[in-house]
This record gives sequence, structure tokens and C-alpha cells, in this order.
Amino acid sequence: MPLYEQRKFVAPEFIFGLNARQRVAQYARNFGARRVLLVSDAGIAAERWLNDVRVTLDAAGLASEVFLDVTPNPRDREVRAGTEFYRSCGCDVIVAVGGGSVIDCAKGIGIMATNGGDILTYEGIDKIEAPTPPLICIPTTAGTSADLSQFCIITDLGRRVKIAIISKAAVPDVALVDPETTLTMDPYLTACTGIDALVHAMEAFVSTASSPVVDVHALAAMRLIRDNLVATIKAPGDLVRREQMMLASLQAGLAFSNASLGAVHATAHSLGGFLDRPHGESNALMLEHVIRFNYSNAADRYDTIAQTLGIDLRGMTGTQRRDALVEWVRQLRLACGVCDGLGARGVRSGDIDDLSGFAAQDPCIFTNPRRANRDDLHVIYEEAL
Ligand SMILES: [Fe+2]
Repeated sequence: MPLYEQRKFVAPEFIFGLNARQRVAQYARNFGARRVLLVSDAGIAAERWLNDVRVTLDAAGLASEVFLDVTPNPRDREVRAGTEFYRSCGCDVIVAVGGGSVIDCAKGIGIMATNGGDILTYEGIDKIEAPTPPLICIPTTAGTSADLSQFCIITDLGRRVKIAIISKAAVPDVALVDPETTLTMDPYLTACTGIDALVHAMEAFVSTASSPVVDVHALAAMRLIRDNLVATIKAPGDLVRREQMMLASLQAGLAFSNASLGAVHATAHSLGGFLDRPHGESNALMLEHVIRFNYSNAADRYDTIAQTLGIDLRGMTGTQRRDALVEWVRQLRLACGVCDGLGARGVRSGDIDDLSGFAAQDPCIFTNPRRANRDDLHVIYEEAL
């Protein structure tokens, strides 16, 4: 057996468990906060989670300012507006309460606050030089894991594409991972974020930058999603299931943050800038087609995924094993209520040239187990129409 290649593993401090969010004041104080910028969105503000956090900060004598102008697939202009607000209020610590969009916007604000310049200039890997302000994340979805990851995904409105900023500086300082905050997710958001977590685990596991430590988390996440995703959608108030999905998201996040992703995310990022639909939905629609494309270059890894998901591969040829995994993934997608394809969501054949051009430049494509150029990605999009 060959020796492993060197790999690093980065993870923020995190607290996992019921009521973890109530530790926010203690951490903000430890970071020397005088005025906290609370980043959230209108949907979360309508639930009790944002108010909970604000009350906790108030009780500890910590002033806070609230920035809510964040939309799904957060835009470059929202990051600029948030940075302006952060500076004008004299904030010194950022607390993000929300899903991946809110957390990514908060990361963007932190990057611009101390590095200056424009958020779009930080696209790519390791472009951030100055440390960002302390960032405390309280995720309210179980899937994106932006609260743990080195990724910050922002929509470039001018080009209608999502850019990926990947840097150790984008790792939050602490994540307060509290399963109770996911109780208010609607069934479709639960489905999309859960499938996103599954794709994180699968893409990390087959990534060319994978490692034994990544594998442990990726496989554990797959088992948890196998056992809990559909059941959680059917019983949204089941806190035990919600906690299992939150743990799955956390472990998938540890995996992909350190192994990066692949062609599913590269094509989904390109779609996300174009369609402005849920990120996990884009992943769900691309996954089957990417597995078909990738399988021959990582057959052993995909077979391990299939067995972990509970598929009996005995006696099957390679093609049959590939097809069995694709079918399992398709059935899960349908059981989660993600039906039809890209065409039903407004993508036309004439759009695919641009979509594949952007996907071919996405940083996630570099760790895909099979090299995928623009023409390859064109074919994958055609199949997903
Ligand atoms: Fe994702």
C-alpha cells in the first residue's frame, strides 16, 4: 500500500448540541466585542432565533446592530452594503444567524472590513491577506456548513455567476451548532440542504484532495443522511432527527472544507448565479449526471459510497454498480420532492455554453476525480436538462 500524501485539516472551534446558541455572549465577550454586527435575513428575523441571540447579547451588556439585507445566493452588493454598515456602526465582532447565504455574506463583510478592496477581487484560493474580524456563526440550516468551511460563495451580479472564495481566513472563529434552530426549516429547504450535505460528503470522499481523516467524516455523514433525511422531511418537528441531520451536516462540512468538492458544485455554482434557485436543488439535479461522468475514474470510491448507503453490489459489473448508485440517488431526490430537471426550471440549450464556461473555471472543478473541460461539462448539463 502506498504512503499517504501530506494533507492539512482545518476546523474552527465548534460547540455542537441543544442550546449551543446561548453561548454567543460568552464568545463575543472573549473576542473583546464592544459592538456586535448581527447578520441575518428577514426570514430568520421572523422566527425567534435572531431575537434570542439579541436578547442574550443585551443581557450580557453587549451592544448589537442588525443587518438583514441578505437574500438567498447572497449578492456582491449586499456584501458591500453590509461592510459599509459594519464600518459606520463601529462594530468589532460579527455574529451570523442563518443559513449558508447569511453566513457567506457575513464572511464577505469580514473580508472586506479588514482587507479593503472589493469582494469580487478575492475570488479563488488563498487571496486574503489580513485577518478578518472575529466571526461567530449560528447556523439555522443543516446542510451548507458555511459555519465550518473555508468557503465563501458570493453572486457576482454583473456576470450572473457565483464566485468561490476559498481561504483559511474564511473559517469562522467559532460555530455554535444548535439543532433546535433547524426546526423552522420548511420541507423543501430541509430536502435541499440535506441533499447539499450528502453531496458535500460524496464529493469530498471522491476528491483528489481527500485524506483518511476526511474519509471518516464523509462516510459518517452519508450514513446519517441515509437514515434520517427522508424521515426528517416527513416529521419536521422531530428534534432527534433534526439533531442527526445537523451532525451529518457538520461532518460533511469538516470533510469538504478540507478536501474541497467537485463537478457537482462547480456546475451548481454556475447554475446558482444564473437561476437564483436553492443551492441544494441545483446539486440534486446535477449529482446523477456527474456520477455517470466520474465513475470510471474513481470506481472503488464510488462503490464504497454505494455500500455505505446500503446498496448491495454483490455480483454486479462495474456498469451495474454505477447504475445502482445513480438510481439510489435519483430515488432519494424524488423522495425529497426534487422533481423534473433543469429545463423545467427555465434553462435552455442555448444557455449551456455560458453555464459550462463558468463551471470550467470554478475552483471546485480542480479536485474532481475526472478532469472535466468545458465540452465535458456541456454534455453533463445537456443530460440534466
Ligand atoms: Fe454545497
